[in-house]
Amino acid sequence: MKVRPVAWTRDGLRILDQTRLPDRETYIHCTRVSQVVRAIKRLQVRGAPLLGITAAYAMALVRPTALQKAADQLIAARPTAINLAWAVRRVLAKGSPALNEARAIHREDAVMCDAIGKHGASLKSKRILTICNTGALATGGIGTAFGVCLRSRAKIFACETRPLSQGARLTMWEAEKWGLDAQLIVDGAAATTMKNKGIDLVVTGADRIARNGDAANKIGTLGLAIAARQFKIPFYIAAPSSTFDPACKTGADIPIEERDPSEISSRFPAYNPAFDVTPAKPITGIITEKGIFRPGKLKASQGGF
Ligand code: MRU
Repeated sequence: MKVRPVAWTRDGLRILDQTRLPDRETYIHCTRVSQVVRAIKRLQVRGAPLLGITAAYAMALVRPTALQKAADQLIAARPTAINLAWAVRRVLAKGSPALNEARAIHREDAVMCDAIGKHGASLKSKRILTICNTGALATGGIGTAFGVCLRSRAKIFACETRPLSQGARLTMWEAEKWGLDAQLIVDGAAATTMKNKGIDLVVTGADRIARNGDAANKIGTLGLAIAARQFKIPFYIAAPSSTFDPACKTGADIPIEERDPSEISSRFPAYNPAFDVTPAKPITGIITEKGIFRPGKLKASQGGF
């Protein structure tokens, strides 16, 4: 299965418009940073590792003297996924040509996804529940949590992921492309599915992991962790080392993006946080490219701090 959600072309950066999936595969061609920033804000491109890759390529659209200004605009586009700022700072630190570093970040992410999938498969899970989209549409490779499902050859139960339906639209689309056994559930059915459907693993991605192991991810993840604990089902986070933020001591330091209420209701007032923070305690382990670790126990040499 080959999905290329971002690609560097002779005409600039090509982005697969994820808001049109699964019905239409259309592309946006960006030659200016402002176009990439807009695509990021609209979630036409999304998922923490892919946001980093996209922002790194966007830095290659500007002259060396404009790198800092581009970096500031890109980092401000979405606040929670640390991969975005991490990749932009990495390009800044290298300087010109930005394209070489962007390509390196892209390649490395694909390798990390493979390793995460392999480590996750060692858990030998057969029926996995997950949320949001963490596959090829969210990374530079096969994905993080989705890569674990794929390499485990497990049956997938995909939470719909309201309000923007990344699970219903994107994870199910990827699962179909891979020919995986996957079933969609509404978010409210997650606990019941854990109880009744023999789920042996809940695994999700992350947008930022604090030093103590608290992890921010798509809204609803915290509820999954609590329910998994109730039913004694292991709950894992799968994420590359670029998702760890040493500047955050705990989850309280992670900025949580609040999106427009109109994504939920065009008529009534609404509260629309895009992410929540799962405390380290109910997290059984964190699957990284270096192996599986207890939350808060990662050292720099292991891809953490
Ligand atoms: O708002 P999104 O779609 O960018 O949210 C994505 C998630 O929450 C993912 O779980 C996370 O970024 C990890 S993607 C490998």
